[in-house]
Amino acid sequence: MTTSSFSRRSFLAGGLAALVDLSAFGQPSGLPGTASLSPLPNVGGEGPWDYWESGQGTGVVRIAAAAILSASPYDTQPWLFRLGSTRIEVLADKDRAVGELDPFQRELYMGLGCAIENACVAAPAQGINPVVRLLPELSAGDDNLAAVIELEPARQAKHPYHDAIARRHTNRLPYDTGRKVDQATLDALAGLTSSSDTKVLFLESASPGGAIFTDLMMQATQRIIDTPGLRESRWTGVRAAAANPSPLSAEVLQQADANWLKATRTVACATASAFGLIMVRGTRQDHRLHIEAGRLWQRIHLDGTNRSLAMQPMNHFIEVIDYETRTQGTSPVSSSIRAALPQNWNGWEPIFGFRLGYAGATAPRSPRRPLSSIVVA
Ligand SMILES: Cc1cc2nc3c(=O)[nH]c(=O)nc-3n(C[C@H](O)[C@H](O)[C@H](O)COP(=O)(O)O)c2cc1C
Repeated sequence: MTTSSFSRRSFLAGGLAALVDLSAFGQPSGLPGTASLSPLPNVGGEGPWDYWESGQGTGVVRIAAAAILSASPYDTQPWLFRLGSTRIEVLADKDRAVGELDPFQRELYMGLGCAIENACVAAPAQGINPVVRLLPELSAGDDNLAAVIELEPARQAKHPYHDAIARRHTNRLPYDTGRKVDQATLDALAGLTSSSDTKVLFLESASPGGAIFTDLMMQATQRIIDTPGLRESRWTGVRAAAANPSPLSAEVLQQADANWLKATRTVACATASAFGLIMVRGTRQDHRLHIEAGRLWQRIHLDGTNRSLAMQPMNHFIEVIDYETRTQGTSPVSSSIRAALPQNWNGWEPIFGFRLGYAGATAPRSPRRPLSSIVVA
């Protein structure tokens, strides 16, 4: 097949790797009419993972089933979908916002970007070329509509990240300190960006930049625990992520905070091979940049999954930068991280942090809401 039917972005999303031609298994499937939609699965928890892995669903339903397996802040899954025969609308579910920790809804919109990316990876196997329009109707007043994915008929093909959708999990386990991620791999991950306003910067954990990243991360973790509004907001997120939030008393959550602080030092920072920062050129309040950055994160994580890398977002000091920016109009933490970066990063904002390395064990699946509960008319 040729790649000419794929948009530049979805082509780049494959890291310039060839899509696997599935035409031997059938001609372009075309677009399903709404009448031929697969039934929407109504199981949650691990059910959505089993549904996807066992190959169930077709067309837009299967694409949406992939979208909900993406990363999201605190597993809040802040999305709703409107499924049509020629387009999928992706809406922000603002009831799932965590509050003070995410005052600009940066993380919420990044989560939507992650879901959009998974949808775009799943679409070619359904004989669909996805064309994404971000925030298309803001001016029309529908400020919950984050994106429209137009579905164009295409020859059926399997995206190189397709099978990684089921295997990608946030890995919070210790990473192997004896095995470093080499520069060629970091360069390849840095090359996955598809927007001129979004980039990723890597800091080796043993470098001076890595030491500053660790210091800021530890200070921010303590500050979130010590600042009532931020702590409550984190607890909202922890409750959202829990399969059963009812036993999460304040006492249990305080213990969880102490464990979190310790794990940030002794596991997350101490065993990372490198840290990554997704940077955007523009303001940190711009939802378009948030969605682009979310797409980039999901792409990096899927690509890393194909390379057997372990990854974990680490946004403690990024959340503090947002908090300071909202409450003080300026951020001393942002100035500290900037001081550690080369001059050519002037004008770029850090909006997402993560660590990467190799882990001995696979991370567990996190629960999902049933697809039936997030498809709206
Ligand atoms: C914008 C964003 C911010 C996140 N921040 C953190 C973080 O600071 N620490 C962390 O451990 N995980 C973080 N995560 C990962 C989510 O908790 C994770 O994606 C969610 O629980 C679903 O799990 P999964 O990625 O394994 O599917 C973040 C994810 C996103 C999309």
